[in-house]
Amino acid sequence: MKSLSINGAELWYLERGNGRPLLLVHGFPLDHTMWAAQIESLAAHCRVIAPDLPGFGRSPARKKQDHKATMEQFAETLADLLDALGISEPAIVCGLSMGGYVALQYWRKHAARLAGLILCDTRATADTPEAAAARRTMADRVLREGMAPLAETMLPKLFAETTRQRQPQVVEALRAVFDAGNPLGIAAAARGMAERPDMTSALAEIRCPTLVIVGQEDAISPPAEMGAIARAIPGAKFIDIPAAGHMAPLENPTAVNAAIAEFIATV
Ligand code: MLT
Repeated sequence: MKSLSINGAELWYLERGNGRPLLLVHGFPLDHTMWAAQIESLAAHCRVIAPDLPGFGRSPARKKQDHKATMEQFAETLADLLDALGISEPAIVCGLSMGGYVALQYWRKHAARLAGLILCDTRATADTPEAAAARRTMADRVLREGMAPLAETMLPKLFAETTRQRQPQVVEALRAVFDAGNPLGIAAAARGMAERPDMTSALAEIRCPTLVIVGQEDAISPPAEMGAIARAIPGAKFIDIPAAGHMAPLENPTAVNAAIAEFIATV
């Protein structure tokens, strides 16, 4: 991994391959390693850049207990990272779940710098007031108790039953990423997600090529909801991935990599 200073803070990222830039934006409360099965494979087709967003993985968090990291701020970090790398050509932005919330904010602010959008196991809606309140409560608990309460709540929902049975090592590897999470960064992003805007009515305005990917057993952003996102975006392609839940890129990398590689070839 390499790091750069972005607005005075260290930002860590992994970079592989050449050509069209492809940003891989991880979900919550994860880091770039969730794309491990994509990075080398997709580097044969483009220049893959997989950052650890501020407060995740190796990128440090702001040291304020009540900090809030919004999806818009993360999107600005992506634009700043491309600037720092001297990349002016439009990039493909691929985000999973929270990474998808960030990708939509990147589109909103930087459409001219977007060659294609890949929305993976994500949502366009805002949180309900109850969901937002639960996130803020979880942010406080993570600061007090560490990552265990979040792992207990989230891990059971992330994987397809097939993955639990046939690939327990994938579930355990993700548990280790949860355990290593930085409570300050995770609390800040939870507060930021609680305030994310509803993007549903904006989807019809997206003009760049878009691919929507969902695990067939995704319990958090189910295929019906993601199908509606795909239908709302003019010309978007929809692919559902068998034997996969919310973490489709980890659970069925062969199918996800094929879908992304095919999309990249058309952008
Ligand atoms: C994620 O995988 O990034 C989370 O499920 C996002 C969320 O909690 O809304």
